[in-house]
Amino acid sequence: MTSRKTLALTAACAVFAAGVLVLPVRAGGDKVAFPQNFANNVLFATVDRPDNKQFRELYVSQAAIDAAKKGQPLPNGTVITLIQYAAQLGSDGNPVKDANGRFIKTNIIAYAVMEKRTPWGTEYPDNIRNGDWEYQSFTPEKKVNEKANLAACFTCHKPLDKQDFVFSYEKMKSYVKN
Ligand code: HEC
Repeated sequence: MTSRKTLALTAACAVFAAGVLVLPVRAGGDKVAFPQNFANNVLFATVDRPDNKQFRELYVSQAAIDAAKKGQPLPNGTVITLIQYAAQLGSDGNPVKDANGRFIKTNIIAYAVMEKRTPWGTEYPDNIRNGDWEYQSFTPEKKVNEKANLAACFTCHKPLDKQDFVFSYEKMKSYVKN
């Protein structure tokens, strides 16, 4: 009897704890403001994404690029802006390619932003925390996307811990100004 009650209580606590884990992620994302001046940064990479028919532009500061070139973590205060565009589609529904074989951008779908500031991230357990990074998703109108699943940002970027949680670290490293 007693042990059954204890079990039920433990289960209830686990559900409660899981619910609580999601909250700080939401709150944490609110620290990230829309990077109004992203276009003053370096457009260091563009990506064609056949899976979701998007063309993407990635911006970061010159200081971050310099750090990546030295193999260092990106500096405190780094903001990375990823612009997601719908790719132009042909009559077959697949992205059309330009003369260089690249996708052609049309309208903006979203802005994905990650920002790193000390001492951000301290409230997260180790299995979630991405160093000092916080994530936010913005609509084409540059407003916070309230429906974004910010926990998923942490989960997918987490395995990149050896390169400061950044997928495009190598692209920063190899970036050369045209
Ligand atoms: C399913 C995995 C996945 C999820 C979820 C995800 N990302 Fe990413 N992210 C990537 C990949 C892969 C790239 C590399 C660029 C590309 O392929 O578009 C990337 C790149 C980025 C970049 C450019 C810096 C870098 O790491 O290369 C930013 C900024 C970013 N993501 C923000 C976010 C935000 C904000 C969220 C949540 C709203 C998020 N990501 C969720 C996989 C993911």
